[in-house]
Amino acid sequence: MTDIDTQIRKAAEILAKASNVAASCGAGISAESGIATFRDAGGVWEKLNPAEVGTAEGLMESLMIRPEKLIPFVLELLDAFEAAEPNAAHLALGELERMGLLKTVITQNIDNLHHEAGNTDVIEVHGNGFRLSCISCGGLQVHERKRLIRETREKITTLADFSISGIAGLMPACSVCRSFMRPDVVMFGETVKDIPRAFAAARNCDVMLAIGTSGVVYPAAYLPFDAKEAGARVIVINPNENPFASVSDAYIPMNAGEAMPKLITAIKEIRKAG
Ligand code: APR
Ligand code: ZN
Repeated sequence: MTDIDTQIRKAAEILAKASNVAASCGAGISAESGIATFRDAGGVWEKLNPAEVGTAEGLMESLMIRPEKLIPFVLELLDAFEAAEPNAAHLALGELERMGLLKTVITQNIDNLHHEAGNTDVIEVHGNGFRLSCISCGGLQVHERKRLIRETREKITTLADFSISGIAGLMPACSVCRSFMRPDVVMFGETVKDIPRAFAAARNCDVMLAIGTSGVVYPAAYLPFDAKEAGARVIVINPNENPFASVSDAYIPMNAGEAMPKLITAIKEIRKAG
């Protein structure tokens, strides 16, 4: 049995006995859906400068001053988000919930793929790119992912007016007060969402599955440490690094889309053997 097989077996034995698993996911879980991560080679922050476009103001300014530089990347991201489907790792988290093992998915991702994979308690600490919030009244609109992307791409490719109102007009108007709306996502310097609920889920779980995150962005990066501190077992799935090595009980150095189905199979075998 290879070391990876041993780690999968160990993780499956921990999960088979669990009843309140929490998953804490980063961009890596969506990599196999074709959505670039941020800090891997070729990632988002290699193509775009977070200091320039990581804040709402910086993004607006970059679109107004240098649209020709930014628009190609925006269209590339829209294409990836439109083509993406939940991959085997997302689907396995949905199955873990249906098996009665997993309660909550905490995600740093804004791609909506955990909802589409069937998980019903998803805490999106960095928001959701297809839920729009009104900059005036805070009203929310939830949009179908692919349709909003198609509509936005259509507007961007025909946009001539790169003033604030021209750019803000890329999003539908608020149905309550008719003001501008923006994607309900957390940009650098903005308050992360649902953090008390995320930490409560981490402190109450019996197993924390940390999948596809570099663990460099706080407060989300604290979650596996907090879970461990509260008595949970910690399992890490990441092909390149184990950012939680000091607290992990099992570390599977594999792509999430390959590791998760193997985990589900091993859990079922263990549960069948009784
Ligand atoms: N399966 C599992 N993990 C993977 C895969 C894969 N197929 N491919 C890459 N990874 C791992 C990488 O090894 C890396 O550790 O996913 C991690 C991705 O790390 P980041 O790109 O830093 O993404 P993330 O941890 O989600 O970043 C957190 O930073 O810029 C902000 O708001 C942004 O939510 C994001 C936050
Ligand atoms: Zn409004």
